[in-house]
Amino acid sequence: MNTRTSCFKALFLIFFVTSVTAQYEVPVPQNTYSRAQISLNGNWDYFVDRYEAFFYDFVRVPFDSVGGGRLDFAALDGKAKNKTDRYEYAFDGAKKIAVPGDWNSQSDRLFYYEGSVWYRTLIDAPQMEKMGKLLLHFGAVNYRADVYVNGKKAGVHEGGFTPFAFNIANLIHKGQNSLVVRVDNKRNRSAVPTDVTDWWNYGGITRDVTLIPMPDSYIEQYQIQLDKENAKQITGFVKMNQGDAEVTIKCKELGLSIKIETKDGKPMPFTVSIRKKIEKWSPEHPKLYDFTISSDADSIDDKIGLRTITTKGNQLLLNDIPIFLRGISVHEENPIKGRRNHNKADALQIFDWVKQLNANYVRLAHYPHNEYMPRMADSLGILLWEEIPVYWTIDWKNEATYQNAEQQLTELISRDRNRSSVIIWSMANETPDIPERLVFLKKLAAKAREMDQSRLLSAALFKANLGDGNYTISDPFGQFTDLVSFNQYLGWYEGTPDILDAANFTFKQNKPVIVSEFGAGAKAGFHADQMTRWSEEYQNYLYQETLELMDRMPNLVGFSPWILADFRSPRRQLPGIQDEWNRKGLVGQNGKFKKAFNTLKDYYSKKMKMEK
Ligand code: GCU
Repeated sequence: MNTRTSCFKALFLIFFVTSVTAQYEVPVPQNTYSRAQISLNGNWDYFVDRYEAFFYDFVRVPFDSVGGGRLDFAALDGKAKNKTDRYEYAFDGAKKIAVPGDWNSQSDRLFYYEGSVWYRTLIDAPQMEKMGKLLLHFGAVNYRADVYVNGKKAGVHEGGFTPFAFNIANLIHKGQNSLVVRVDNKRNRSAVPTDVTDWWNYGGITRDVTLIPMPDSYIEQYQIQLDKENAKQITGFVKMNQGDAEVTIKCKELGLSIKIETKDGKPMPFTVSIRKKIEKWSPEHPKLYDFTISSDADSIDDKIGLRTITTKGNQLLLNDIPIFLRGISVHEENPIKGRRNHNKADALQIFDWVKQLNANYVRLAHYPHNEYMPRMADSLGILLWEEIPVYWTIDWKNEATYQNAEQQLTELISRDRNRSSVIIWSMANETPDIPERLVFLKKLAAKAREMDQSRLLSAALFKANLGDGNYTISDPFGQFTDLVSFNQYLGWYEGTPDILDAANFTFKQNKPVIVSEFGAGAKAGFHADQMTRWSEEYQNYLYQETLELMDRMPNLVGFSPWILADFRSPRRQLPGIQDEWNRKGLVGQNGKFKKAFNTLKDYYSKKMKMEK
């Protein structure tokens, strides 16, 4: 085959598969969490496909690119019917793996594995009176998911930390159906995140999987919030998935009942005055109101906190009152179990430690965490920074990379736009000051503002060292964010803690400042003098010196030290100390608090008393 023909064939295959599967992809509706659903969580069959023998034929043409998305081999789900049948793979008799859950922590043979794993579960079609849509919903799959129902391709999703869904009503039949998912967690230069990070590349179907029966016409998106300009008004929008509909928004406690005419499945804004007193949501008073949003064919309930988050010069205002963010950074990981967090109990553990710290704010680093986190933060009154994994040096000039980042941002904002705990969308972490990065991030920031005008934008910007202990934040992207946030590791990556008392920071932008990271490594239980690296005393000394720096930091409205708990990282190889763990946690791998935990806790306790 000459080059021209093979290029044409490749383009046709891409178009063909995309067009075939595009018919099943649906935007994830707002608040699937509250919809009636069937859980597909459980033990699924799986096998490891290191050589991608199941996905590509021997000349690397994807099997599912022929025959209209049908896997061109039945072995994925087949059984030998007679003695001459040849099968070299099958799920019957395969090993089992828990869904949700990363594969690394479930099997020694998969601890370091990066590649493809094929999953299967057998599902009975739900009895649905009126066949509307049947959404197959994934909380997240890291990193790429190819999804097949009864051998037909439902679709593909890239991005390891955001939800996605396919309408499989026309792929499922009465009785038993096969759901097969190929998960590929290989890192690659043009992915988001790129191939280099400081966290473990946990692969798998890492969050809940559900079936959600939906009417043909349903409430696809809505946002309900306190009007930033008038605290006696509620504002927002509603959007049906298709057609015209009259949508009612009700809240008995507020005496609210408003009808909104929507057209052609387009978003319809609304603003309504509330006569009753509105109890604003805050960490001290995390008041959630019960809303019901309904059309003639659909109805959904949601618990929403009403608050505003704004800036005024260098002040951060929650409900027009200055607030200080007593924070901590968190990875989505359980240090005691050494795995990705994915359920309510995991979220409870994290927030229990956060509350013990006297913190009111958490930076959910470096990617969207599972939905239990913002929902629990809503009810506990914890403020959140959420971010997408545009981390370190991304393939800035690659349009597909940008589209992936924008898709993940869109999926995050769509999922959490009604969570009052979420006050900040962060675009990036420690990215280089090069022109193509600024172009990339400005587009992302514009997209975030287009989708949601109610929250603040930030990013962990880079700092410049001016010498003699003087530093400045003049990152050009700081012009496009509402906050000036930056990570600094004085006393750990730069010098030792004794240099901190000579450190001074200045800022090009007169905006509220958040120090989004500082910290030091310590092996829990290792004690020595305060100048001995890796001792709890060294980490504690750095915290003491850094907290004094915080007290004199201009425009400071909060900080989120790195990090609540030790977490796995392939970059951390110091034997006997790190052993593939990043040791900057205030909570050790064994769940024990290090000395610096109490230093920060006491600091926040004093701060709380000063606020009263
Ligand atoms: C960086 C980065 C973190 C990393 C940390 C560290 O600032 O944002 O992801 O884990 O430093 O070096 O421990």
